[in-house]
Amino acid sequence: MKNFAKLLHLVSFLVFLPILASCEKRELYIVYLGDHDGSKTHQEIEDTHHRHLLSVKQNEQGGSHIMYSYKNSVNGFAAVLTAEEAKLLSEKDEVVFVAEDKPNMFSLRTTRSWEFMGLEGGSIWPESRSFNDEGLGPVPKSWKGICQAGISFNSSHCNRKIVGARYYLKAYEYFHDKLNNSFDFQSPRDSFGHGTHTASIAAGRKVENVSDIGEFARGTATGGAPLARLAVYKVCWPLIDRIKNKKSGTDCVQADILAAMDDAIGDGVDVMSISLGLDDPVNHTRDTIVIGALHAIKKNIVVSCSAGNSGPAGGSAGNLAPWVISVAASTIDRIISSPVVLGNGIKIEGESGTPYKLEKKMYPLVYAGDVVEPHLFTNSSAGLCLPGFLSPEKTKGKIVVCMTNFHDAIRPFNKSQEVKRAGGVGMILANSPDLGDTNLYTNSYNLPSTSVGANGATTILNYIKSSNNSVAQIEPAMTVLGIKPAPSMANWSSTGPNPIDEDILKPDIAAPGAYILGAWEKQNNAGLGYMKYMMASGTSMAAPHVAGLAALVKAVHPTWSSAAIRSALMTTATLTNNLGKPIITASGEVANPFHFGSGHVRPTKAADPGLIYDASFTDYLLYLCSIGDQKVVPSFHCPKVPPSVHDLNHPSLAISHLRGTKIVKRTVTNVGGRKSVYRASVRAPRGISVKLSPNILYFNRVGEKQSFTITIKAKRSLRARNSTTGGYSFGSYTWKDGIHVVRSPIAVSQTGYPFVRNTTPVKNLPRGVGDKEVQRG
Ligand SMILES: *[C@@H]1O[C@H](CO)[C@@H](O)[C@H](O)[C@H]1NC(C)=O
Ligand SMILES: *[C@@H]1O[C@H](CO)[C@@H](O)[C@H](O)[C@H]1NC(C)=O
Ligand SMILES: *[C@@H]1O[C@H](CO)[C@@H](O)[C@H](O)[C@H]1NC(C)=O
Ligand SMILES: *[C@@H]1O[C@H](CO)[C@@H](O)[C@H](O)[C@H]1NC(C)=O
Ligand SMILES: *[C@@H]1O[C@H](CO)[C@@H](O)[C@H](O)[C@H]1NC(C)=O
Ligand SMILES: *[C@@H]1O[C@H](CO)[C@@H](O)[C@H](O)[C@H]1NC(C)=O
Ligand SMILES: *[C@@H]1O[C@H](CO)[C@@H](O)[C@H](O)[C@H]1NC(C)=O
Ligand SMILES: *[C@@H]1O[C@H](CO)[C@@H](O)[C@H](O)[C@H]1NC(C)=O
Ligand SMILES: *[C@@H]1O[C@H](CO)[C@@H](O)[C@H](O)[C@H]1NC(C)=O
Repeated sequence: MKNFAKLLHLVSFLVFLPILASCEKRELYIVYLGDHDGSKTHQEIEDTHHRHLLSVKQNEQGGSHIMYSYKNSVNGFAAVLTAEEAKLLSEKDEVVFVAEDKPNMFSLRTTRSWEFMGLEGGSIWPESRSFNDEGLGPVPKSWKGICQAGISFNSSHCNRKIVGARYYLKAYEYFHDKLNNSFDFQSPRDSFGHGTHTASIAAGRKVENVSDIGEFARGTATGGAPLARLAVYKVCWPLIDRIKNKKSGTDCVQADILAAMDDAIGDGVDVMSISLGLDDPVNHTRDTIVIGALHAIKKNIVVSCSAGNSGPAGGSAGNLAPWVISVAASTIDRIISSPVVLGNGIKIEGESGTPYKLEKKMYPLVYAGDVVEPHLFTNSSAGLCLPGFLSPEKTKGKIVVCMTNFHDAIRPFNKSQEVKRAGGVGMILANSPDLGDTNLYTNSYNLPSTSVGANGATTILNYIKSSNNSVAQIEPAMTVLGIKPAPSMANWSSTGPNPIDEDILKPDIAAPGAYILGAWEKQNNAGLGYMKYMMASGTSMAAPHVAGLAALVKAVHPTWSSAAIRSALMTTATLTNNLGKPIITASGEVANPFHFGSGHVRPTKAADPGLIYDASFTDYLLYLCSIGDQKVVPSFHCPKVPPSVHDLNHPSLAISHLRGTKIVKRTVTNVGGRKSVYRASVRAPRGISVKLSPNILYFNRVGEKQSFTITIKAKRSLRARNSTTGGYSFGSYTWKDGIHVVRSPIAVSQTGYPFVRNTTPVKNLPRGVGDKEVQRG
């Protein structure tokens, strides 16, 4: 009887265990404990993390496995826990927060045009000439990084240029399938190109006489800091559609990103360039990049991040903490022009990246919707040149107008493939109104093709409708330099105000991000052979420009803090283009600080800013106290009355809810001449009075600090909320000593920005691909 009872017990145990286990759902959590005081060894830190984990383990199911132990600068760990275990941990005194990690939160900051290049396949391509180490001295002793071996990558792929390479895959594999090596290299090697490209922009060596595969943009490719060393931390991996067995996107998971940033800090990098960000803004303390960057700042590491490609809608900027440089993207003075000439003589500007040319004569011109297979005439997608849609009989020998729109999932390259399949001779890729006039695609198509804006598209379609014998010619693509005006802001570059804290102006600065030639190793799918350099667009390409520049400033001023370098870049930025006029947006309006923060980077000025607005790690902790995030670094105690957010010594000033008079304090440090006198000038925002006191600053030595106040008062009610700037008005104040011009933008509103949260997903597009580079000066 006894035995029977025992048996019963055992059986019920066996039966109930799986049910119990399935009730207790386990998820990946990041347990954040703050920072390290430097008194513990790595082993002791790991032991502490294990003790925390064991102390809350309810049963042995799932084990007490720690996925990542963050032990260089970040103190914390990532582990799979039940909700109850997570709750118990979060209640412990030593634990700052416990955050559930989720897949698909971060994406790469590349544009749609880039994603549509159709270059799927392949964090760095070490053989690229951009990463050769000729003439570079030995790797500094202070460097602690490693060259992590993996598939198609071993220690011999690092050199005196690429001094470190690592990859982070555990959290990705927790959420998704195990990495299938036919889709990406399980190693630091770049399977796509994004990482190689952004790395070459930041710190690529000078390589003469290179071009895009179509022979465009020929010239010297060089990174911002060609002599800087580079370390690469790969954190983004492909998503696979298991049914189609195809790559469907990319994911970069928080626990992996935090591990990479913590290692980069431990390895001893000087500058981080991060071309990825959250799709939706979250509070600073929930944003891995922001937390990782805060730890980086403690070590005076400059962190340059892409602002995002979700513009031009207001409040779309990302990477929003004041200790991060959030970079917007501009166009440069080069286009690859390939205009369309219609039979009626009208010429329409187009852009292309294909070297294929038509003969010099007019060709019949048709709209794709008019030449589809008969049963598809009524199909709403008839004009999009979907695979199999075009009738060879009606298409043969003609130039076909294929439409594209914001939600279009068919890549321009595939449209040109369809035109070619049906016997067409050329393609005009025509933007629907939702893509406007500036989202053009300089792709390398497989037949003569060009991309035209929405206005040009309307002209072409009206011409086809009105003529019985419509003909056209696509002029061969040519690199055109000296385009004016340039720079201009790219239409897709994300804009302010800052959706997490409107009282910190974002983005901070703009840098080139459209059609940037960079290293990219890949077989070209238009049959043009193997490419080594390619043009790509996105704030992903803008952030490494600033990172490269930051590395140069750091090389000149090795003791400067991260804030000092950011200040130097921001206060020397320019507001004017190559016509000497104000920088404009894609729609022709004068750009404002919500587009470019302080303005466009000026490499020649940044190393000698005259004055800097410095801020310490502690100042940023005080800022976190001010916005209510009291407990980010447990050893730091917020004062009972935290300072005003506006008093953070930041090189820009945003006031979202001005009531009456506001007085803010700033302190500048003299880094220019020994003896100098700076005078203030103000361009007050409309309807606002701005006074600086004192308005003359006298300095007697380098390193001397002087404080002043800015008094801001509304003269009258600001513009109504419905204006495009959401009720903001803009101005600036400037210190000048006759040599240096130290300018800070001001953005003021009385009502705050009327944020409209976009709840409908705007992209049915594959996410971008790539990774994160860290580079040292
Ligand atoms: C690294 O890989 C290359 C081939 O890519 C090979 O020639 C070399 O011997 C390898 N080196 C080591 C240390 O394994
Ligand atoms: C990996 O991908 C290849 C190519 O698509 C496929 O043939 C293979 O079955 C996949 N492997 C696994 C384990 O899913
Ligand atoms: C640049 O490269 C092209 C193509 O390889 C070659 O034809 C040309 O002569 C080179 N120009 C110079 C200045 O080396
Ligand atoms: C962010 O912080 C604010 C203020 O502390 C809070 O109301 C809000 O719920 C937080 N949002 C998230 C996503 O945690
Ligand atoms: C148009 O054609 C596509 C592809 O063949 C098909 O998926 C879609 O359902 C069609 N739409 C209509 C409205 O017929
Ligand atoms: C688009 O073109 C690429 C490159 O040739 C090809 O691999 C892919 O299958 C095409 N996609 C479609 C939907 O036809
Ligand atoms: C910019 O993009 C938006 C859509 O994102 C579009 O509506 C607008 O027309 C574009 N503006 C220009 C000038 O291209
Ligand atoms: C097109 O041809 C038809 C008859 O062939 C003629 O009636 C019409 O006027 C022509 N339209 C134009 C715009 O030439
Ligand atoms: C909205 O803006 C327009 C144009 O700037 C202006 O005419 C109108 O009065 C404004 N509406 C309100 C309610 O302020």
